[in-house]
Amino acid sequence: MKEPQGDIVKAVKLSKAFGALSAVEGIDFSVEKQECFGFLGPNGAGKTTTIKMVSCFLEPTSGVLEVLGKNTQIEPRFIKRHMGLCPQEDNLDPDLTVEDNLRVFARYFDITGQEARFRSEELLQFMGLLAKRKSHIDELSGGMKRRLMVARSLLNKPTLLILDEPTTGLDPQSRHQIWESLYKLKSEGTTILMTTHYMDEASHLCDRLVIMDHGKIIVQGSPKALVKQHMGSSVIEIASVKEEVEKYLKAEKLEYEKTSTHFFIYGKNTASLWPAIAGKFGEDSCALRMANLEDVFLKLTGRGLRDV
Ligand SMILES: Nc1ncnc2c1ncn2[C@@H]1O[C@H](COP(=O)(O)OP(=O)(O)O)[C@@H](O)[C@H]1O
Ligand SMILES: [Mg+2]
Repeated sequence: MKEPQGDIVKAVKLSKAFGALSAVEGIDFSVEKQECFGFLGPNGAGKTTTIKMVSCFLEPTSGVLEVLGKNTQIEPRFIKRHMGLCPQEDNLDPDLTVEDNLRVFARYFDITGQEARFRSEELLQFMGLLAKRKSHIDELSGGMKRRLMVARSLLNKPTLLILDEPTTGLDPQSRHQIWESLYKLKSEGTTILMTTHYMDEASHLCDRLVIMDHGKIIVQGSPKALVKQHMGSSVIEIASVKEEVEKYLKAEKLEYEKTSTHFFIYGKNTASLWPAIAGKFGEDSCALRMANLEDVFLKLTGRGLRDV
């Protein structure tokens, strides 16, 4: 495929409504060639809806959406031919073996016969599933199913790989196996757009990301820049919610957050406060650590549960 000149994905004022519900509300973002771009956000934020529009399975209500240089509403077949999609829910065929799941899917891309066999084997090897080639889907663990979904999304050697929560619910070994594969794909030139609930995953894999909430993008940037901008470099945690602690934090005019069990102190010069705070409230109940993306996420989207 001739590579598009500009961005691999470009969305301008992209919106999607389901009746009265605004699932995605006027978002702007662009994904550059060969980067890994992440969508983070609480349940119901609009991540999957966005992914479905990018992968041409849902039409936008309004706005402009271009993928691989083509409008998703005008040239969906072109886009689908050159992208790989790993949806949020596994939809493997339970009546087929592992390798037949790949071979049958390959037909959608006119990959048949020897080529389909070769490509399937190559991908099973790549995702660490070769030993399971003859197994049926219900014999696979959750991690294996997910790896097979990723393998399937790579059959057509996509220019753009789209993954909706590729590692949710997986054991650490499976997660790291998937990360390694994605890292390799990226280094070989694949552009990746993904959603995740795992902040370490986003920090590890994503060059840039957006945090969405209630259908809108609230921030975007590189993981490092977002942490620096919103949290500073370190956080002090105090495992106590005593009034005297809060009085002190207020008197010192510190930036903090209070939960039912902890105070979290952040801001520019947090590390320099450590000796005084540890001395005052006891090192055993205080901890100084690096600020991370999870801090940013919770600060911006709150700690309330989002069960949808
Ligand atoms: N097909 C649909 N019909 C009606 N509402 C939907 C549909 N798909 C998603 N929604 C709603 O749109 C909002 C965003 O959903 P979704 O994009 O799945 O969020 P996320 O993937 O961030 O958890 C939610 O309120 C969800 O209930
Ligand atoms: Mg989702």
